[in-house]
Amino acid sequence: MCGIIGYVGKNNSVPYIIDGLKKLEYRGYDSAGISILQKDKLVTVRAVGKVAALEKAALLASPCGTTGLGHTRWATHGKPSEENSHPHTDCLGEIVVVHNGIIENYLLLRAKLESLGHKFKSETDTEVIAHLIEENLKSVRGSNEEERLIKAVQKTNKELAGAFAYGVMWVHTPGVLVGVKNQSPLVVGVGKGESFLASDVPAFLQHTNKVLFLDEGEIAILHAGQVSVLDRFGKPKKVRVTKISWDQKTAEKGGYSHFMLKEIYDQPQAIEDTLRTARADFGKILGLDTSALRRLENVHIIACGTAYHAGLVGKYYIEQFAGIPVSVDLASEYKYRTVPHRKGTLAIAISQSGETADTIGAIKKAKELGFRTLAICNVLGSTLTRLCDSTFFTHCGPEISVASTKAFTCQITSMYALAISLGLANGNVSKTAFDKLHRELMRLSKAMSETVKLEYTVRHLTRKIYKAERFIFLGRHVHFPIALEGALKLKEVSYRSAEGFAAGEIKHGPISIIDKGTPVFMLMPQDDLFEKMLSACQECRARGAFVVALTTPGGQAQAKRVADQVIVVPQVSDFLQPVLHVVPLQFLAYWIAKRLGRDIDQPRNLAKSVTVE
Ligand code: F6R
Repeated sequence: MCGIIGYVGKNNSVPYIIDGLKKLEYRGYDSAGISILQKDKLVTVRAVGKVAALEKAALLASPCGTTGLGHTRWATHGKPSEENSHPHTDCLGEIVVVHNGIIENYLLLRAKLESLGHKFKSETDTEVIAHLIEENLKSVRGSNEEERLIKAVQKTNKELAGAFAYGVMWVHTPGVLVGVKNQSPLVVGVGKGESFLASDVPAFLQHTNKVLFLDEGEIAILHAGQVSVLDRFGKPKKVRVTKISWDQKTAEKGGYSHFMLKEIYDQPQAIEDTLRTARADFGKILGLDTSALRRLENVHIIACGTAYHAGLVGKYYIEQFAGIPVSVDLASEYKYRTVPHRKGTLAIAISQSGETADTIGAIKKAKELGFRTLAICNVLGSTLTRLCDSTFFTHCGPEISVASTKAFTCQITSMYALAISLGLANGNVSKTAFDKLHRELMRLSKAMSETVKLEYTVRHLTRKIYKAERFIFLGRHVHFPIALEGALKLKEVSYRSAEGFAAGEIKHGPISIIDKGTPVFMLMPQDDLFEKMLSACQECRARGAFVVALTTPGGQAQAKRVADQVIVVPQVSDFLQPVLHVVPLQFLAYWIAKRLGRDIDQPRNLAKSVTVE
């Protein structure tokens, strides 16, 4: 994620842009920058770190102009540094671009532009957009400079691959901003004598509540208080402005009442973004060549909390697809146990923040033991990514809610991508099998879009059960870690007692805690273990439990016979099913906490990133 803001109006654009960036900081805060058209010259100020650092720098430089663009960055290509901060410019420094998203073919485009003599100043994918527009301006004709700019942008869009939204400003078109939306967010605000371009409504909500929501492939052309739109075929489109009634706080959460809910709904996009880069990096993920990959004999997975549960799922994946034995440790335990030294060991640390002290301590130990180390992490430049030999980034954007949701599903998705990659590299998976597994993975985001529609069903269910004192979650195989995660999520945000077990284990003790009306959630897609889960349902029901079965369409009829309520989760391949099955449990935790009036985004006693041991 990144945040874009643009202003064109009658006033000095700087305070509008800085203020908008502060509202967008939740989208990323590695670095920030602004470009202002001051008379006939562009003034750019950039700073590493939060918007406050940029504000200081801007105060010193004091640019002034009525047209400007700003950006707050969540690094994807290139480390967080001043050179990589947006805005980015063309060779002449006359075209300015701010961008959110990923240009998948940027390496190819960069090579082509370099061969044409373009000089690049950053490591980012964004910079290719500025140079491409510069290149395309050479060949387009128009009755004025604005028409030429639009044509050059249209030509540029045809060459870009990926999901992106960007804003452009050109010294030869003062008072004009151009915005492009292609699968990344971009909205337009229309005020009195002023117009705004932004990744999200809160960036300009205090100035106008008249919003133009762009569709995919559209181009917006902004003048002070006037906006026109070209559809994805380049045809002028009737501008339809919506008046929104959100207050500032609601708007920051995209209209959702809490970040947790917003982040649950972010999951289809988060998975897509994670997989887009996974696809680009397939085979290079570990930074090892094929012969080194073949020599891998053990994998140690280290993580805490939710990330640990993702690690437990990862064990099933790596053992299944790569045939390599895996141990999974809580990072706080790994550090203090005797870990025998083994040649060919890869230690994988999973962490959303990359700053968890226990995980960092454990990975330091793995390094001391001479193991190769890999981070699966969501934050570029974090301590963990700097410590590990290589990193696989989950691109789910900043996770603000303390309870982790989208990071978890992206961690599992990443483990799957890694496992099949490893399997292909070490010969455990044939190319044909790999292609099939890969195709299934690429369909996951779409299935996730269907799964988030379950909110209403789960919300309704919580009306019946939210007062229960204790909740039980049961699953087997890849769904055992999901049972643990369902229980953790519920405990965390509702403060209720919740436990997850391997379904086969309940008869060895835990079944004694089941009482009349105890809600028991069964993770039971129709797979090889479905029959066994049906028996577990009967066992719990016989003890008075209120059984909720989470199954796939094929299991619905049988589940109905043994459960008090059935929730039908979309079907994907058996090994990917846990990514979807956890979603109703996330909604469950959210809605129980909401009904109990808990502080959902910041539950008591917890912190988002635990940087102490
Ligand atoms: C639970 C949760 C925590 C974290 C754990 C590790 O919702 O958020 O259990 O998963 O503290 O944090 P990271 O992933 O940042 O290392």
